[in-house]
Formats: sequence, structure tokens, C-alpha cells
Amino acid sequence: MAETASQGQGATLFSPYKMGKFNLSHRVVLAPMTRCRALNRIPQPALAEYYAQRSTPGGFLISEGTMVSPTAQGFPHVPGIYTEEQVEAWKQVVDAVHAKGSIIFCQLWHVGRASHQIYQPGGASPISSTSKPISGRWRILLPDGSYGAYPEPRALNAYEIPEVVEHYCQAAINAIRAGFDGIEIHGAHGYLIDQFLKDGINDRTDEYGGSVANRCKFLIQVVQAVAKAIGAEHVAVRISPAIDHLDAMDSDPLSLGLGVVDRLNKLQKDLGSKLTYLHVTQPRYTAYGQTESGRPGSEEEEAHLMKTLRKAYQGTFMCSGGFTRELGMEAVAQGDADLVSYGRLFISNPDLVIRFKTNASLNKYNRKTFYTQHPVIGYTDYPFLSNPLSRL
Ligand SMILES: Cc1cc2nc3c(=O)[nH]c(=O)nc-3n(C[C@H](O)[C@H](O)[C@H](O)COP(=O)(O)O)c2cc1C
Repeated sequence: MAETASQGQGATLFSPYKMGKFNLSHRVVLAPMTRCRALNRIPQPALAEYYAQRSTPGGFLISEGTMVSPTAQGFPHVPGIYTEEQVEAWKQVVDAVHAKGSIIFCQLWHVGRASHQIYQPGGASPISSTSKPISGRWRILLPDGSYGAYPEPRALNAYEIPEVVEHYCQAAINAIRAGFDGIEIHGAHGYLIDQFLKDGINDRTDEYGGSVANRCKFLIQVVQAVAKAIGAEHVAVRISPAIDHLDAMDSDPLSLGLGVVDRLNKLQKDLGSKLTYLHVTQPRYTAYGQTESGRPGSEEEEAHLMKTLRKAYQGTFMCSGGFTRELGMEAVAQGDADLVSYGRLFISNPDLVIRFKTNASLNKYNRKTFYTQHPVIGYTDYPFLSNPLSRL
């Protein structure tokens, strides 16, 4: 919760915030977003331009989901951080962001069963907590731009899990070597870690399945290992207990969310250091591309879930999902969040922070170019405010 006057009562999106060791000048965060412009899994110069456009002095950016290993891919042309070439390429992106005075974390991602043989080394089956495929309600974007069915995954054996944890760990070390200020572990939106967390997916009978404690085990092992490798103050976690994207349903999202929070609190105590933040996506976010993917819950239920997790978590709390300028202002003013991450509005408004500050009008985003590969169109060609005075 709040630590200083500027962090609590009376705060706005434009109040400074001390996020662990990082001094932020405002609370409008770039949400992690897959944009499919990293040709052959390597960050390109276009990424440096895109992230630099969205940087502000004392601002905070989270990178797109970045593959921790060759089996982690589930979209075309997403970047990895497991080879030297990728690390070198990321350095250019991070340097461009730092030159503009922003702080940037790398989001570490493994899609688990949300993949396809076409993305897997040797055409193998994707790995998961389960051997149940994602239902026909969802389709996977293939490299040629068409959509296909998700295939049957292979459930990981318990003895294979430490190796996957090690991949997160090495990726985190690589991210720091590339110059990132920290990493965010993607435990949300139906991807690998969420496939362990949710009881609608995880059907294991070993120590990684069943109780909330068992389902949290993989996430906590990843957090523990990564925190040991790069320091807890450089590690953040993202979860989405109430979002059923890619069939990631849980019968009791609140208990699951609190289960994760309790374990993170305990881990922080054991480590004697806080994580950088906890990032929670709320169901108001109706997914990109589809019109509906949020759990059909009432606004009150959603608000209750977010407030409860916020109160329970002992550290910086970031929320995401369907926030406008007004909703973000409200969340910060009421103490419901320390930071707010913005996705779609940041795609189409590279200068979103200044636009929010001056209450200027916003460019509309074009969904059709969210996941295309052109290095400029729909990526770095959204206009800035034309009046330079309003950029002050
Ligand atoms: C094109 C696109 C790609 C996204 N990719 C990711 C991702 O890689 N990792 C992630 O955690 N969330 C991802 N998200 C979710 C966003 O981080 C964010 O939570 C979501 O867009 C809701 O915020 P908004 O309503 O401000 O857009 C993506 C969203 C969009 C629109």
C-alpha cells in the first residue's frame, strides 16, 4: 500500500511513484503487447523506434511477451531472449528506451499449449500442464496469416518441470544482460503458467495439480528461481485469475488470486525483499481480436476481486484492462492501484502520456494491424499531437 503522501491519498495518474528502487514520474504504464514485428524471433530496429516513441522521462514500459525458450512460441514473429543474437538485438531496443529516460522490463513468456506444431522445434506437440487441447472456441494465428485449431498438447512430466523453470531463469539473466531493468513473469491469459494455475485446465494428479497450493507451485518455483538469479527487486508477476482467455477458467477466481498473493507475500518475507510489483488484468478487458473473452461477471464482482487482491498484496499493485483516462484517475485516486497499464490506447497513441496529461483527443486503434509484420504501418506510424506546445 501507500508509502508516502505522493503514493496514496490525492494521487493522480501524474503523481510520481516510487516502484521499489525505481523512481517513476507518472503512473501511465505501457502494457505488454505482442506485435509480431520481431522477424525470425529477433528484435528489429522497428522495435527500438516503437518503444522509444512510447518512452517518457521517468516512464515505465513493459515489453511484449518474449519467449524464454524455443518451445515458448505461439504467434508469428515474436521475439525470444534465449540466444546471444536475441540478447544483442534487445540491447538496441533497451538503449533507445533508456536514452528517452524510461525504465523497461522484459515480459517473460511461454505459451504452453497455446501453440502449434508449426511453431515447435521438430514439429513436436506443445507442452502444458495437461493433454487437453484448447477448445474450438479459440483459433491460433499461423505464420501465413491464417487461423487454425489448437492441437493436443503433451502434459509435462513432473521431472521435466525444473528444466522449464531453468529456462525462465536463464531468460531473466539474459534480460538483465541486455540492459532491461527487470522482468515480468507472464502468469496470465491462459498461457503456460496460467495452465497450471487454473482448475479448468490443470487436471494433474501429482504435486502440481489439485489444491490451490499445488497449482501455484510452478509459478512460485519460477518466481523463486528468477528472484534468486537477478534479485527480487527486479522481478514482477502478472496474473489474471478471473479471465478465461484460451479456456483459462477457474471455479473460484478469488480464492486462486488470494492463493497466489499469499504465496508471493510469504516469498517476499522469506527473501527479505519485495518484488517490483504485481500486475493483475481485470475481466473488463474484452480481448483483442474477439469481442468477448472476459469472464461474464458483474462489474461489482470484478471490482470486489481487484480491491481484495489489492488489499491483500503487500507491495506495488498495477492493474490493467479497459482503463480510460478517467477510470485510471479514479483507480489511483481511490487507492485501488498504484499504477495502471494501458494497452490498446498506447498502440494508437505513442504520446498517450502527454495526451492524458493535457486531456487531448485520442487516435483510434486499428485491430487489423495489431499482429501484422509491417515495420511501420500500424506500428510506428500513429500520429503524435501536432501542437508541439501541448507536448510540454
Ligand atoms: C495486440 C495486443 C497484444 C497483447 N499481448 C500481450 C502480451 O504479450 N502479454 C500480456 O501479458 N498481455 C498482452 N496483451 C494484453 C495487454 O497487456 C492489456 O492487458 C490489454 O490490452 C488490456 O488493456 P487495454 O484495455 O488498455 O488494451 C495484449 C493486448 C493486445 C491488444
